[in-house]
Amino acid sequence: VKRDGTRVFDLTMRAGKKEFRAGQKTSTWGFNGDYLGPTLRAARGEKVQAKIKNSLGEESTVHWHGMHLPAEMDGGPHQMVAPGATWTPHWTVNQPAATLWYHPHPHGKTEKHVQRGLAGMFLLDDEKSGRLALPKKYGVDDLPVIVQDVKFDGAEFDHGHKLMSDTGFLGNRTMVNGTLDPYKEVGDELVRLRLLNASTARIYDFGFSDARDFALIGTDGGLLEKATRMDRIRMSPGERAEIVVRMKPGERTTLRSFPNDSYADSWSTRFAGGDDSFDVLQLRAKKTLRDSPELPAALGELEVPDGSDSVRGRFFGLLTSGINGKKMEMGRIDETVTRGTAETWTVRNEHSTPHNFHIHDVQFRVLEVDGKEPPAELRGAKDTVFVPGNTTVKLAMRFDGPADPDTPYMYHCHLLFHEDLGMMGQFVVV
Ligand code: C2O
Ligand code: CU
Ligand code: CU
Repeated sequence: VKRDGTRVFDLTMRAGKKEFRAGQKTSTWGFNGDYLGPTLRAARGEKVQAKIKNSLGEESTVHWHGMHLPAEMDGGPHQMVAPGATWTPHWTVNQPAATLWYHPHPHGKTEKHVQRGLAGMFLLDDEKSGRLALPKKYGVDDLPVIVQDVKFDGAEFDHGHKLMSDTGFLGNRTMVNGTLDPYKEVGDELVRLRLLNASTARIYDFGFSDARDFALIGTDGGLLEKATRMDRIRMSPGERAEIVVRMKPGERTTLRSFPNDSYADSWSTRFAGGDDSFDVLQLRAKKTLRDSPELPAALGELEVPDGSDSVRGRFFGLLTSGINGKKMEMGRIDETVTRGTAETWTVRNEHSTPHNFHIHDVQFRVLEVDGKEPPAELRGAKDTVFVPGNTTVKLAMRFDGPADPDTPYMYHCHLLFHEDLGMMGQFVVV
């Protein structure tokens, strides 16, 4: 923290080697360390500054996924950091407590940069959520769970795409926080997991091995209005969910990803990974557990519009070949929105390949999925939403950041292979 109160984060992007498997080192990239990056944390109202040093030997960027901030601080493909250079974006945190994350965004190379290990969590706090009786001892009963699928090819990561799949890279095992076969010993009755799907293409359907239920308390942009009990939650790349699970003394349970049939047909189920299952993280409860207070009945207030004051609608048709028939062009602005207004965006997946949709700078409310009320896991603030094959989602968001006619924000499919292929567009706020 600087004298004027600015919270400073020093991050160096660098190459490394990590021993994921005994006796075998894998070439990796990481922030400060060999793989992934430190968890950053700031509070609403705080000024933050990042010092990003690029020691990779090739250009990259750092994007603050889910953060509401000026376009030139966003870290998208227009804020490239040259090898050896340092980039120092700064902004004031002005949004609810949430689990956000950061990762590179170089146009055409995002899949590779993330897959090599450049990703980390960025947690936001606020006063109201700080007063709630939620598990909040970081690393004790409040755990970051960064889920990635990987494949090893000798001493290297295998970055190849699965045969017949146009989804992008799919691994054959998963890691949590860069660890294979992970487990965590816990000493509290209630454990909060901050799930982040940091995989490049894989869609997970998380639940527990013994089918126990859990409380969903938060989505991408922060806490829900109230906790919702469920036993499965589907997460596409880039999405976050905060869940709270109850443990009994001495027991074990495993967070698992189950096969799911959310795809348009059996072909895409099979080749987009819908038949796969993974043991993601084992929880091992100690013989005696500390009591946890009951979850509060009311959590947060959603600060996302409900569509009633939208001044304009837009349509986005998704195909792997582009959005609205166009591939991303760095020099073309696709949409211009008016500062301070709310809009309703309709996003339609026009074929059977799974996609999702992420919008920079804003959090949105999912108004409808195929004309119906969204499922519980989509009833919070979101910045990324899964759009299964032949499905339409309707989203409402408000653009209340500073105007900047020259610097665009991105919207794109967060299956990074698709993003790199050009499933991305640009909007400016004026
Ligand atoms: Cu997490 Cu534009 O991305
Ligand atoms: Cu983003
Ligand atoms: Cu896609």
